[in-house]
Amino acid sequence: MRKTIVAGNWKMNGTSESIRDLLAGLTAGAKDSAGVITLVCPPAVYISQVKQWLGSAPISVGAQNVCEQPKGAFTGENSLAMLQDLGCEYVILGHSERRSLFGETDLLVAEKFAAAKEAGIVPVLCVGETLGQREAGQTIEVVGAQVAAVIDRVGINGLSDAVIAYEPVWAIGTGLTATPEQAQEVHAAIRKQLAQNDEVIAEQLSILYGGSMNAGNAAELLAQTDIDGGLIGGASLKADEFLTICAAAADSRK
Ligand code: PGA
Repeated sequence: MRKTIVAGNWKMNGTSESIRDLLAGLTAGAKDSAGVITLVCPPAVYISQVKQWLGSAPISVGAQNVCEQPKGAFTGENSLAMLQDLGCEYVILGHSERRSLFGETDLLVAEKFAAAKEAGIVPVLCVGETLGQREAGQTIEVVGAQVAAVIDRVGINGLSDAVIAYEPVWAIGTGLTATPEQAQEVHAAIRKQLAQNDEVIAEQLSILYGGSMNAGNAAELLAQTDIDGGLIGGASLKADEFLTICAAAADSRK
């Protein structure tokens, strides 16, 4: 059975104080359920502190972005070696905010993916269409091209043990959520695309849904055959809500 992953993308939110409170809530309620991975992705400057505060709680830590270069004159960037040094196990790549606000292209995202794989950090590759693309009937094509850019760079074997997150851009931070059927359709298309290259990798790869997932809608999204977890923004900043989503994820495996 595929791993179920509930990942919190905190984006550029939090202070030492608010993060300590959030983690106190999460560690008090976090359950170690077989097959379910709980992951938090704080702003890079807090990763070290978060690792320390989490102690032995069953919660993994990831970064929200990384530089594809190993080291050197790249002011403001963080390297994979640095993430490793801090004990990061995952890195979100190609989030739509990185793509739209910071100009990250499919090719750059594929480079970052390749570098993460090489460093042994699990890439969480984000893909998704804009509202205009959905309305023009281009969803599967756009998402397919985003996935294909990575397969072209690392080969299908490079996708083994990676994670994909389908995040329709129009659903991120808007309160609009893809219906379970809309999400399932895209997740199934991604899995089919992977299966055309390697059926075993396609079957094993966890595909998360992201875009206004919350405590109220998580269960029905997670009940879909090809939805293996969630990448949660806003709702990951509230311990109770995030824990409710984690519980729904654990239930979805029963
Ligand atoms: P949201 O963000 O849950 O606030 O919509 C999801 C994401 O951007 O990963």
